[in-house]
Amino acid sequence: MKLFYSRRVDEEFFYFHIPFCKALCDYCNFYKIPQTRGLDLKFYYERLLTYFKIVFEKEMIGKEYNKLNLYFGGGTPSDSFYFLEFLEQLLNFLEGWEVSIGELNLEISESTSLTWIKELIRLVVHKLNKLRISVGVQSFSSSVRRFIGRKRETNFELLEFLRQADLERVAINLDLIYVPYYAKFFLEDVEQIFYYFPDSVSVYWLEEKLDTVFFKKAKVSGFYAKRDMLENEDVFDIFFTGMKRLREKYAWYELSNLARSVKGVSLFNLNYWIGNKWIAFGAAASGFRLLEGKKSNLRALTFKSGNLDEFIKGIVKIDYLVKEEIVWWFLTNRLRLALWDKEDWKNALTQLEIKAQPLFYKLLKEFYTSFENRLLINSFATKLMENLKF
Ligand SMILES: C[S@@+](CC[C@H](N)C(=O)[O-])C[C@H]1O[C@@H](n2cnc3c(N)ncnc32)[C@H](O)[C@@H]1O
Ligand code: SF4
Repeated sequence: MKLFYSRRVDEEFFYFHIPFCKALCDYCNFYKIPQTRGLDLKFYYERLLTYFKIVFEKEMIGKEYNKLNLYFGGGTPSDSFYFLEFLEQLLNFLEGWEVSIGELNLEISESTSLTWIKELIRLVVHKLNKLRISVGVQSFSSSVRRFIGRKRETNFELLEFLRQADLERVAINLDLIYVPYYAKFFLEDVEQIFYYFPDSVSVYWLEEKLDTVFFKKAKVSGFYAKRDMLENEDVFDIFFTGMKRLREKYAWYELSNLARSVKGVSLFNLNYWIGNKWIAFGAAASGFRLLEGKKSNLRALTFKSGNLDEFIKGIVKIDYLVKEEIVWWFLTNRLRLALWDKEDWKNALTQLEIKAQPLFYKLLKEFYTSFENRLLINSFATKLMENLKF
């Protein structure tokens, strides 16, 4: 499988953040709002569409590009039928401008109803090259789910439907999350993965976000997940045993991502990791682009903080990253991909000294922070940015 990403200057990338969730998970640090008031959703989608149309007409009309790639993340777009109404309107609008859509990525939860998913496929599949549905399964083990505070039921009918559907233009991704304490369940989940056999799999280890309910509880009970993971050799062994098993059928093409074939790879994610530009919409959406009026390579990336009420009122705030943050973001993302995007992916792992994601971050962070003079690393990053030729 050839995964090396050649830049496609003729493609554009748009991200939409949908911040609503029927149930909030203890471990999640994304900007999200309990989905209780129907009116919020209605106004939010109206505002999102208006905002999108304004930006599209300002930035895209008259510009030459081949395809538009769309990403809908969350929050949980699949928690409401308002999303499908919004998506239909958005696609109709783009059709009016004769826009050709490359890939549409969508994050859904494991509790999504069959009606919702069938309606989604009916609405969009004939309008694009690829629909990539990413299902947040987290774990098949109820112990893991309870421990991390995932307050949803898995709809196995949905998973079975997606397993059997075999739709040519639909790629299924399953998202998994682990904590060191329950790492052994990863090995059981891997066997479930082989049963459902999605086009791609994302294996995450819980990020250390101290402001989440999970980490606040962990602090009170004296359990500190990340430290345990870094110090525990057994966890590394489990991680590698599981990844080795997955690699019997999947290519490991990014630190957390594996795919059976190019079909499962998200073009949108590759674009993000490589540091190319994209435009984002939503109450807390992160985009990356040239700052208007500046000739330099400086870019703005909005933070994950957000304000629903302000967004609905039409107030759009952007938090610009300072240079150090941009550099840090670049290095981590670029390295995550650079280390793994070998054509000969079977040898990629053995070529590496780095053992696992947490250790990788630790090394990287220590390397970065221990420099007394950060000029060196900044000049390296500047060169990196220049070479990327935005
Ligand atoms: C932001 S969620 C949105 C999709 C959907 N709401 C869901 O929960 O599946 C996308 C994925 O990010 C991952 N995720 C969320 N919080 C995380 C965290 N603190 N650490 C690592 N992965 C996380 C989960 O695997 C989740 O499925
Ligand atoms: S992980 Fe997904 S479902 Fe859970 S709170 Fe975050 S966005 Fe919502």
